[in-house]
Amino acid sequence: MHAEDVPLPTIAEEVGTPVYVYSRATLERHARVFREGLDAVPDKLIAFAVKSNPNLSVLKVLQQQGYGADVVSVGEMRRALAAGMAPEMIVFSGVGKTRAEITAALEAGIGQFNIESEEEGLELAELAAGMGLEARCALRINPDVDAGTHDKISTGKADNKFGVPISEAGQIFGKLAGQPGVRLRGVAVHIGSQLGDLAPLEAAFVKLGELVTFLRGAGHAITHVDLGGGLGVPYRKGENPPSPAEYGAMVARVTKDWDVRLIFEPGRVIAGNAGVLLTRVVRVKRGIKDPFVIVDAAMNDLARPALYGAYHGFDAVEPDGSQMTANIVGPICETGDTFAMGRECDALKAGDLAVFRTAGAYGATMASSYNSRGFVAEVLVDGDKFAVVADRIDAGAIMDAERVPEWLA
Ligand code: LLP
Repeated sequence: MHAEDVPLPTIAEEVGTPVYVYSRATLERHARVFREGLDAVPDKLIAFAVKSNPNLSVLKVLQQQGYGADVVSVGEMRRALAAGMAPEMIVFSGVGKTRAEITAALEAGIGQFNIESEEEGLELAELAAGMGLEARCALRINPDVDAGTHDKISTGKADNKFGVPISEAGQIFGKLAGQPGVRLRGVAVHIGSQLGDLAPLEAAFVKLGELVTFLRGAGHAITHVDLGGGLGVPYRKGENPPSPAEYGAMVARVTKDWDVRLIFEPGRVIAGNAGVLLTRVVRVKRGIKDPFVIVDAAMNDLARPALYGAYHGFDAVEPDGSQMTANIVGPICETGDTFAMGRECDALKAGDLAVFRTAGAYGATMASSYNSRGFVAEVLVDGDKFAVVADRIDAGAIMDAERVPEWLA
């Protein structure tokens, strides 16, 4: 198995395992296909959802593709800026922006704040006015639409913490639009992630369109609408989520009379299938029913199976053609550290290499150092060359940041 033209065993030998491996060509292809899907949208900004993969080199690839960034913290904003993204092409979402973060983003001159509550909007207005600035803003709307995805990654239902209820949007918009310090020029929505169906997205966009008409009727100038991210990707063979072209056609149809600049915040659809997590089998342990294939990657490196019961394809790097049924587990001391139970997969033995697929989004970015395992390394491949784009941070380096106070020693 190769990543582009680089044999995965070469990377495992030189960098060690576990390691995330990303393909530049795939990132570029996904960025292009998503952009081309939106060819019928005349005025747009595509802002990559940095949370899905904040690696600086990944951001650099997307910056070169003309992408901006959707950020949810100052840490992400600094990454986008460091990757060369123009401040005007950065959108700041998130329900808990602190005063320090708002101030830093105002200083950086970012393109848009997506305000998630009346309280946040008033605070932002006060801070911006105090700095003699006018912040470009949109109000994030909670459209009360069921995205039909996993509960933990659904964001547009009335009881989710995101945005303001659509029923109160007109009133809150009016109040915030009157504040010095903010230029409220649009609305934003994001209903959830890994959506396998366009219907909930369309329902949310239709509601948003009605709101735009209402707000204009009330005398507000609406020039920007942020449609968020959410497009799903196939994790298993046979899964067939809507393509960027189908998504783009729906968006173009629903928004054709809006006369605004549309902002998109794709994450997973760009990065998900551009990366794998390369791992080595530590040993195979006999089980009552199926054997346990114990790999050197764990839930601290790839949290999605433990957190969401998510499925990741699992294949041998050098398959010998035979198959086995196995429980795929990591070394961490809890049962949640299980990638798959009773999985039909390539036959594997101790020392063999394998990959978890579709790990380019919400993979390394969600890593932790649980069980004092350190932070996983990341590699970017480009044709026949590759580079370590994030060093492995070993457990020792993490321990070095800790101290025992004198009064305890
Ligand atoms: N915009 C906003 C405001 C978001 O909250 C998100 C994702 C996105 C855009 C990007 O959504 P995407 O295009 O990637 O679906 N850790 C979870 C996913 C959490 C998504 C959170 N928000 C997972 O591993 O499935």
